[in-house]
Amino acid sequence: MKVLIFDTTDAAVQAVADRLLGEIRMNPGVVLGLATGGTVEPVYERMVNSFESGEISFAGVRTFNLDEYVGLSGDHPMSYHTYMNRHLFSRTDFAAYNVNIPRGDVPDPTAEAGWYEAEISRHGGVDCQLLGIGENGHIGFNEPTSSLSSVTRIKTLAPETVSANSRFFDRVEDVPTTSITAGIATILRSRKVALLATGEKKSHAVAKMIEGPLSAICPASALQLHPLTEIYLDVAAASELTLHDYYQAVHPNGRTDVP
Ligand code: PGA
Repeated sequence: MKVLIFDTTDAAVQAVADRLLGEIRMNPGVVLGLATGGTVEPVYERMVNSFESGEISFAGVRTFNLDEYVGLSGDHPMSYHTYMNRHLFSRTDFAAYNVNIPRGDVPDPTAEAGWYEAEISRHGGVDCQLLGIGENGHIGFNEPTSSLSSVTRIKTLAPETVSANSRFFDRVEDVPTTSITAGIATILRSRKVALLATGEKKSHAVAKMIEGPLSAICPASALQLHPLTEIYLDVAAASELTLHDYYQAVHPNGRTDVP
């Protein structure tokens, strides 16, 4: 696990965007795992900027999003389909046939979950997975006590997730309580992982993920098992790390080009 602590939030965001753009430059047919949430919005904004300035094309990139709310149609304003279209897909040249997001409004969400897991495998797996982290340590909608060997399936949202996500809805009662989410084993099968966490609210979960015991109570701690994970943090998100000075010495201001 590479722990990269940046002086500013902007620098952490830019580094993640550069990481993803670098993957695409290396392999224009790369398979990216994508995430939703407030934290990664500015990453997508930077990807859009690169596209608009003619630096990059996404035409050959295949994507698999982590999750979707059960019950929301793709055109529901709060669905993750809409989020992705608004922040990335409709503003760039991603091809619709390369974009994959679990469908939340299907009659049989369990069958959809199984199909989605198989689709990821059928396309050779995810090369690089972008992640955020919840204040409760979730990745995707893998809430605390999710099995560390889980695959794509239906998960009930934890009360704190419903409450955190209610800021995007008119009323807390409107937040769906179940989701289809890639599992922890699904995420661990990605060849590389880039997780972004910013702000003080994430500092506790970040410390448990990096320095806590490997435990289902903090699903993100499963990333300790992954050989190629990079954690991108701003100073606030890194503030509870015990070995903070060590990480800074190894990668000063997030630099990875120093021995
Ligand atoms: P956030 O969500 O970026 O909106 O905080 C992250 C997550 O819950 O994974």
